[in-house]
Amino acid sequence: MANYDLLLLPGDGIGPEVMAEVEGVAGWLNAQTQNSFNVDIDLVGGAAIDAQGVPVSDATIEKADKADATILGAVGGPKWDGVDFEVRPEAGLLRLRKDLELFANLRPAICFPALADASSLKREHVEGLDIMIVRELTGGTYFGEPKEITDLPDGQKRAVDTTLYTTSEIERIVRVACDLARKRGKKIHSADKHNVMKTGVLWHEVASRIFKDEYSDLECHHILADNCAMQLVRDPKQFDVLVTDNLFGDMLSDEAAMMTGSLGMLPSASLGAEMNGKRKALYEPVHGTAPDIAGKSLANPIATIASFAMALRYTFNMGEAADMVDQAIANVLDAGLRTGDIMQEGKRQVGTVEMGAAIRAEMDRLAA
Ligand code: IPM
Ligand code: MG
Repeated sequence: MANYDLLLLPGDGIGPEVMAEVEGVAGWLNAQTQNSFNVDIDLVGGAAIDAQGVPVSDATIEKADKADATILGAVGGPKWDGVDFEVRPEAGLLRLRKDLELFANLRPAICFPALADASSLKREHVEGLDIMIVRELTGGTYFGEPKEITDLPDGQKRAVDTTLYTTSEIERIVRVACDLARKRGKKIHSADKHNVMKTGVLWHEVASRIFKDEYSDLECHHILADNCAMQLVRDPKQFDVLVTDNLFGDMLSDEAAMMTGSLGMLPSASLGAEMNGKRKALYEPVHGTAPDIAGKSLANPIATIASFAMALRYTFNMGEAADMVDQAIANVLDAGLRTGDIMQEGKRQVGTVEMGAAIRAEMDRLAA
């Protein structure tokens, strides 16, 4: 019997709706298993700006730091377009990642057989697709200093973002990716732009050394990030694990996600360094706040529920429960239930709440 502290940060837009379904799954596990989750719910993003004047409060950061795992819905929306750049909703998420040092972002792109026809690519290219994108999350272009817009004497403005990586930042993310590759298809691609960028030169050099010295049992490849974008739509199944920097990882993971049929399907895990057998962890869907459908119970809760399943797998060592949640999702899709984003002819369209309930009902059946 284990007790876990689970922090839920629903955020904005469809965040609260999809998070309610995670609460449902946590409640199911509390009732049906030996483990119990103490669920705490707090604010992040625009919701935190409205209530507290900041996109994430110090108190919330502290809670996330102490929790066994945090699940985040999504942040942002047109309502906060006018707020200061420093305190925009996204800054709350970026601060959580940075303050908790969640440098490793795991973004699986898995194509459920039932959804192969919902992809914009042909079925033969995506059926059985299972890629793990490992994105560096606390360095590179999104965090490097200077990062500013200054005034020039001639009345123009000058904007700077700085892309910066150190050897150890590259080493630790490449190792996380290689360790995952070892447990999967034993194949890894490292994507960079060493033909143009100094950070790319260092990335390439460090990745090559780690591949050679520590992971000679893996099939290791380097690929230019632009070519990688092209190869992902040409022949995505050539990839198993793909490791890349923060900026390229942001782009390539959206691209890979869409191959699976919908951005509404994909979970992610953001992990810190291992300390005493534990890692700080934040789990979140790859999709955003979808303000156009917010509050209408149209959102797909699968990505957020699957993010909770990743938490069960990577933080709580509840592999069996994680498998059950993933299986329940696959079965519900096989049975023809669809939210609007993945709706296909001949299937039954359901709302957020109904999809969540169907997944829990399927878990009942699998557990029986
Ligand atoms: C993501 C998102 C975020 C990012 C935004 C919301 C700050 O696009 O998680 O991919 O750019 O990292
Ligand atoms: Mg993104």
